[in-house]
Amino acid sequence: MQNKQFRLSPEEATMLQEFRHNQNASKLANISQKLADKFQPKRLAQILELEDVDDIALPTMHDESASPTIIEANRIGIINDLHVPVCDTIATGAALKKLKTLNIDVLVINGDFLDNTNLTRHGKDSRTYLYRKEIEWANETLDAIAQYLPGVKIHYVAGNHDEWVSRFARNNGFANLDGVFTVPGLLNLESRGIDYHDNGMGIEWGKLTIIHGHEIKRGGKYVAANKLSYAKKSIAFGHHHIRQTWTEHDLQRKTNAAYAIGCLCGRTPEWNRYNTYNQGFFFAEGDSDGNFEATNYLIESGKVYT
Ligand SMILES: [Fe+2]
Ligand SMILES: [Fe+2]
Repeated sequence: MQNKQFRLSPEEATMLQEFRHNQNASKLANISQKLADKFQPKRLAQILELEDVDDIALPTMHDESASPTIIEANRIGIINDLHVPVCDTIATGAALKKLKTLNIDVLVINGDFLDNTNLTRHGKDSRTYLYRKEIEWANETLDAIAQYLPGVKIHYVAGNHDEWVSRFARNNGFANLDGVFTVPGLLNLESRGIDYHDNGMGIEWGKLTIIHGHEIKRGGKYVAANKLSYAKKSIAFGHHHIRQTWTEHDLQRKTNAAYAIGCLCGRTPEWNRYNTYNQGFFFAEGDSDGNFEATNYLIESGKVYT
């Protein structure tokens, strides 16, 4: 039974309906304008110089002109695939301790820092977590890293697991949450002074490109060699949770190398006990020509090996 006390008069109901209609109309107008700006429906007609065709509603591609962010550093550390909350804190601690002794000035958190257990369609173990707790733990992990490495500039490259945040928002009709439900928003990256790189092109440091790894669709047992054959330049990446290095020389004796960096998540997760995962991290020291000397470290049972 409806409570008569709260029933709207016909005039009030009409007013409310009009108000909602106007609100929706202005929202729709906004969205349409954004789409029109993005899709540039007349672009193809312009390219083809078709004077009579004034509207071809084809979306343009993503930003194909995106380029890697160029960064400067003398000594750089890269940590990969923490997958908080299924991060291996002992391995992560060992990596950070070693990187501190190496006196790094830049740390790259190279993707899959968040597991996004509650959002992914990937394997999960039998433990369950509130999403709020996942994000709290991730923030606390960043607090600890920043406290342990004061003065070290941190860059964060998005991995496929980090991308579950924007994918979830998009798939559920919340494509534009103005920096709230985004990785930088959830992890307060701006106030932490951490730069976020999510255009799929990663970071360029001297002659080394640092990408998460899912951007180049090549894997397999010889993942470093396979990736290098597509990258055609030196790269450091994670994503495959394997520690591997491959070096090649071209006809001009120029050397390129691919460094597959080990993960810092658990090595034998419940949902994938028998695997080829390695734990590890990466360190390199560069010179003014962009050349560098690198070590792709392995971690076994909490101990660091070269
Ligand atoms: Fe990963
Ligand atoms: Fe990944």
